[in-house]
Amino acid sequence: MPSNWTPTTSAPDSLQATLQQHFTQTRARTLRLFADVNADVFRLQANPDFSPVGWHLGHIGFTEGLWLLEQAAGHPPLFPEYRRLFAADGLPKAERQHLPSFTEICEYLHHIRAQIWDYLSVAPLASQAWLWYWLAQHESQHCETISWVLQLHRQQTQTPSTLSLASKPADWPLPSQIESAPRQDAAPQLQNMVYVEGGEFFCGHEGLNALDNEKAAHWVNVDPFWIDRFPVTQADYQQFIDAGGYRQSRYWSEEGWRWLQANPVSRPAHWLESHGDAYPVCGVSWYEAEAYARFMGKRLPTEREWEKAASWQSDPPEGGAGKAMGKAWKRVYPWGQDAPTSEHCNYGTLQGGTTPVDAFPQGQSAYGCYDMLGNVWEWTQTWFHPYPNFQPYPYKGYSLAYFDQAHRVLKGGSWATQVPVLRCAFRNWYEPRIRIHFAGFRCAYS
Ligand code: AVJ
Ligand code: FE
Repeated sequence: MPSNWTPTTSAPDSLQATLQQHFTQTRARTLRLFADVNADVFRLQANPDFSPVGWHLGHIGFTEGLWLLEQAAGHPPLFPEYRRLFAADGLPKAERQHLPSFTEICEYLHHIRAQIWDYLSVAPLASQAWLWYWLAQHESQHCETISWVLQLHRQQTQTPSTLSLASKPADWPLPSQIESAPRQDAAPQLQNMVYVEGGEFFCGHEGLNALDNEKAAHWVNVDPFWIDRFPVTQADYQQFIDAGGYRQSRYWSEEGWRWLQANPVSRPAHWLESHGDAYPVCGVSWYEAEAYARFMGKRLPTEREWEKAASWQSDPPEGGAGKAMGKAWKRVYPWGQDAPTSEHCNYGTLQGGTTPVDAFPQGQSAYGCYDMLGNVWEWTQTWFHPYPNFQPYPYKGYSLAYFDQAHRVLKGGSWATQVPVLRCAFRNWYEPRIRIHFAGFRCAYS
């Protein structure tokens, strides 16, 4: 059972125990990913945009040692010879293939952890717990990248005709009868969209586990809009392909069309060949998502719209009235405040791949949107940008370096997202050209 990740203001002793549990569980999930990884897959780069999985493993340990042992506890570096190799600003990605073996890196991680546990018993958690929460989330995010890279390796050893995102369990329900919207020249079809009323919305996240880019949480006014109840499915997207969407510039932005000419593709990077209709489209660049939305007479949602549709409860809870109680209306998860379970959504590599977009009715948001967390990351229209009173931590390179009008925000997590980073307010970001293997989208309209 996943542990509840909503931090509480608990006594120092139990905070210590909670952090130890988060660290232990996170590491167990990380190591599980390496179960069938051979020595080549461990050290080879599957794609120029991503480091080898073995590098991610070493980098996880290095980062933990850097922030907790060197910076916080003031220890000298444990394995100084690994700094250049495993630091984020050390070697270029293409030079990260000369790695110690899996066993050596595991020993490295183990040595660091032993000292981490010693430090945990004396660490000033009252002022430092946020750093521990940051590290568990750092490892969780690298875990997801490891899953992507493993997926890329698997794809590269398969023939195109059997190419699939993941093998589907045989007992999945048949593709459900999700009505696919036909192409519209004027107004888009609003079936399978939900209406979200306009008004004030509380955006972002506070608390011990908040990341620098989620703060400060703040009120924003959002105009009324419609948003798709489900992520765009393969059946939906097939219409765009069949209508020659990849050959007609009128659906593409200027930049998107330029991207397409330089990268002549004619379908997503991932596609389930059979029974895939009700599965979400994934492996699309932001430009493809944008073009599909335009083809449908819709657009991508802004981050605020997406987050409101996922987390807002417009009926105030009993006794809650007015802006002062507004925080009580925001849910951590679409379904409420309860920790995610396999009834709510597809996360944490529990399902081994994507699932039909209507598979988790219990995970619906207050507005009736499905799959807002898990299954696939969703591209939004929004550039990654700082919230009011942004303060970088633990270092400027973590978020600040990406407030550059070159990265778009993705929301909601994928089937490989781990619990520590699974929440409506979480912000992910990538360059629009990157065909994130676990990313799809849904559309909005107003
Ligand atoms: C937020 C997922 C884009 O993996 O590059 C990990 C997270 N930052 N180590 C990334 C991150 C530093 C980041 N993403
Ligand atoms: Fe990192």
